[in-house]
Amino acid sequence: MPELAYVNGLVTPVDEARVSIEDRGFQFSDGIYEVVRTHNGGFIDLERHLARLERSATMLDLALPMPLPELERVSREFYAQSALPEAIFYLQVTRGAAPRRHTAPPGLTPTLVMTVRAITQPPPERYTAITVPNNRWKLCACKSIGLLPAVLAKHAALRAGADEAVFVEDGLVLEGASDNFFAVKDGVVYTPDTDGRILAGVTRERVLEQLAERGARVEVGPLPLELARSADEAFITSSVLTVVPIVALDGRPVGDGRPGPVTGRAREDYWDFIRRTTA
Ligand code: PDD
Repeated sequence: MPELAYVNGLVTPVDEARVSIEDRGFQFSDGIYEVVRTHNGGFIDLERHLARLERSATMLDLALPMPLPELERVSREFYAQSALPEAIFYLQVTRGAAPRRHTAPPGLTPTLVMTVRAITQPPPERYTAITVPNNRWKLCACKSIGLLPAVLAKHAALRAGADEAVFVEDGLVLEGASDNFFAVKDGVVYTPDTDGRILAGVTRERVLEQLAERGARVEVGPLPLELARSADEAFITSSVLTVVPIVALDGRPVGDGRPGPVTGRAREDYWDFIRRTTA
């Protein structure tokens, strides 16, 4: 089966899918999205992703195209058509298409786009990262499709020969351009709080639950850059990457420059969870 796209009910191969140039997603980044990993033909945490989609929609006063249970059913039916057991499922909702004016006309039909694309590589064994100033807007809890700061940060990382960029503000580490950030020091796991300056990652939440189950010492709160620089271990989490060690930050090794044991266990626990819930 090819990689498939869905646009307001029409399923086609990805390269045949079309939306209007008047779509407000194209014109204004007026939309929201979710990225969900699948394994063994099953979604990983689809319900949590859709619940976050609804929260993002509320933050932007954006109508979802259908009630959440129906959206879940449509997502599952569409994914089943692809028959790709290891995939990245992408779902985007925009406010719809209309002649370009900042204010949207009332009663616009939202545009629902979904794609399923095959995963061809296992998650990376290790990443390096640079830090960049946080130049994003104040609604980072909303999974908006307005991702230009993330794109520019990733370009900066690429230019620096690193894999990821991590946003820093007021001396605090916030999150990666497309993932959440954790540091481990003296046996304590640190990660920033969901205070609006970061996205409440679904993977982050799962990893925190697993750390709690293991009785790990966890501090959710401000994460000083100095702490990250002097950490024994660091790692990032996302639906696409799962759990990936950060072995260097701004060109300096994190700890001994190798993936550490706390990170390794978090990654194993997360993959155990994936296998359990998608079996
Ligand atoms: N990004 N922080 C940001 C800014 C993100 O864009 C993402 C996800 C995360 C991790 O969230 P989750 O664990 O729910 O995937 C954190 C997706 C993968 C993307 O933009 O491709």
